[in-house]
Amino acid sequence: MKERIERLRAKIEEFKSESPQHLEEFRVRILGRKGELTAMFDDFKTVAADGKKELGKLLNEVKTLVQDKLKSQKEQFDAIGSTRNPSLIEDKTLPASPCGIGSRHPVSLAKNEILDIFARLGFAVAEGPEIEDDRHVFSALNFPPDHPARDMQDTFFIERNPDILLRSHTSSVQVRVMERQKPPIRVVCPGRVFRNEAVSARAHCLFHQVEGLYIDKNVSFADMKQTLMYFVREMFGENTRTRLRPSFFPFTEPSAEMDVSCKICGGKGCNICKHTGWLEVLGCGIVDPNVLDACGIDSREYTGFAFGMGVERLAMLKWQVNDLRLYFENDVRFLQQFQTAL
Ligand code: PHE
Repeated sequence: MKERIERLRAKIEEFKSESPQHLEEFRVRILGRKGELTAMFDDFKTVAADGKKELGKLLNEVKTLVQDKLKSQKEQFDAIGSTRNPSLIEDKTLPASPCGIGSRHPVSLAKNEILDIFARLGFAVAEGPEIEDDRHVFSALNFPPDHPARDMQDTFFIERNPDILLRSHTSSVQVRVMERQKPPIRVVCPGRVFRNEAVSARAHCLFHQVEGLYIDKNVSFADMKQTLMYFVREMFGENTRTRLRPSFFPFTEPSAEMDVSCKICGGKGCNICKHTGWLEVLGCGIVDPNVLDACGIDSREYTGFAFGMGVERLAMLKWQVNDLRLYFENDVRFLQQFQTAL
């Protein structure tokens, strides 16, 4: 009898049910009225008194074992059943439950739209490294040695080597293009840039830019103006008005900033445009001859214009989002709203 009990114990230990029905059959086979263990308990009655103690203990152990096994396997099926109908588990031909599809991030949507518009004007895309050297971010771009952007407060430097830094604008890519390519040059440079700024609703230490460069013979300020006016009308709508304000950048002369009429108040003045009716969207200017010469392009023969814009800023204006941080938090409740914008 002892051997029979041990064989049954091994069988129970090995058992793995495939379905709730299979588990129930197993229960009946062991514990049912004519079950194997039930039969052994019957036989136990006829065991001689001196063997009762040992066999009784074994039988009770096996009984606990089978009860535990039934309980844990039933719990597993119940857990599956609460998410899926258990009667369907067996049918492997049924289609899988639907899984939600994602959507493009609004920053990517805005960036792609900007690149598409410039592609229609014949601008190719150029990319470059995020970790740069001083020459490509500053010196070749005519930044004087004591310019504040070269300060630790504004730019992230690699501690052990002040020549290595995280690019603070993608103008560095324009330098790389000028170094290796002869005019005519017509490129847009998208990418991440880094600035040592406190994070707020309007500023972040990491953001995305698209900068552009056009170099050829006789490129004029009027060409730049026309190109950028076309761009903002495509991006913000036919009725968008623009204005250029004089500005300063070390690498362009003359320099300007372009404003667009506020879409939210139609130019009447509101919180978003700080009651001016205008919103700044980009910086631009005629490439300084020093920059062309530093990059191996003859400034007596060629002229060009450059511009740069922040992608998050344009995305904020386009979709009227008033906090830049939303673009970095990846809260699905925010991101889901751009599904239809695909
Ligand atoms: N590089 C400038 C910036 O990061 C933008 C800019 C590019 C301005 C080209 C003028 C011409 O702010």
